[in-house]
Amino acid sequence: MGASAMSASGAPPGVGPVVQPGGWTPEDLRRDTGWAHRLDAAEIAAFERGLVHARASGKGFWDLAPGDFPFGEAALERLARALAETQQGRGFQMLRGLPVDRWSVEDARLFFWGLGLHLGVPRPQGRASQYMSDVRDAGGTYRSVQGRGYNTKSAFDFHADGSDLVGLMCLRTGVSGGESLIASSITAHNTMLAERPDLLARLYEPVPFSRQGEHAPEEPAWYMAAIIGVRDGRFACRHIRNHVMLHSRTDYVDHDAPERKRHLLRLWLSLPGAPALPESWRLAYKDVEACAVRGGFRGLGITPQIESFEARMAAHHAMAFRIYADRAHTQGVRA
Ligand SMILES: [Fe+2]
Repeated sequence: MGASAMSASGAPPGVGPVVQPGGWTPEDLRRDTGWAHRLDAAEIAAFERGLVHARASGKGFWDLAPGDFPFGEAALERLARALAETQQGRGFQMLRGLPVDRWSVEDARLFFWGLGLHLGVPRPQGRASQYMSDVRDAGGTYRSVQGRGYNTKSAFDFHADGSDLVGLMCLRTGVSGGESLIASSITAHNTMLAERPDLLARLYEPVPFSRQGEHAPEEPAWYMAAIIGVRDGRFACRHIRNHVMLHSRTDYVDHDAPERKRHLLRLWLSLPGAPALPESWRLAYKDVEACAVRGGFRGLGITPQIESFEARMAAHHAMAFRIYADRAHTQGVRA
């Protein structure tokens, strides 16, 4: 951006402090711990009834629907409140007390999938088009050209994932460390505005992002997107409501025994109630309108079965489904 396009303070024209509930400080979170909820016995029992019902259906992941997980009105209301906190409140919500110790890993996966189906449309997370990632140390290298963080035991830089919402479900902790960290990009924005408005201006301009070698054949290996954008008066930052919260984790010491190693499940969701995204994110998200399936890292493993699952889930949540429009276009050009 040339100097002429900036205001006297160095900030981009029209850019001022963002005032939204997601703009908290650590002190705010210490003072009011409403961001954490311990599930009560009735809520847990209701979730388990839904899980048992889904298991008894014998359906595979791509054939399941929200109705296969009858969690009941009260537990769904709890989920709706948690979701509202991620979208209209602080931008994140912790639910404690899920009985993962007495669930098998497969039951935990099934439950987490059902929870996601009730909230939105799951999105793929990388080269293998996996819709639920195992976050554990698989010997990956974070600081490498194609490195991703989730399969390593490294500390992460603060970042945002590529979807409206990221869900993490902790099955086992390590020996020490591995704490999840979150930061408010709104507070970071406002601090930069006060201290270095000239640097903030750069974050509103598109920069290249790598697809880390995980792109589908029809996708370019990289795309342009601004780190910060505003759409319809709402602030969004790429760098849980994923567009406002940044997350990270500390490094950690793991157990030696494979069955005791730190293990989280990760789900990315596109949400029917999430707001429109900045226009400059279109290449990254494939769709930036509200109430549309968008985001995720498509990868190489999308099958007709997965597409029909996504279309069915989009219809369930009354969301537009244009996520593969770029592929049809590219194939048309090549044909
Ligand atoms: Fe992440």
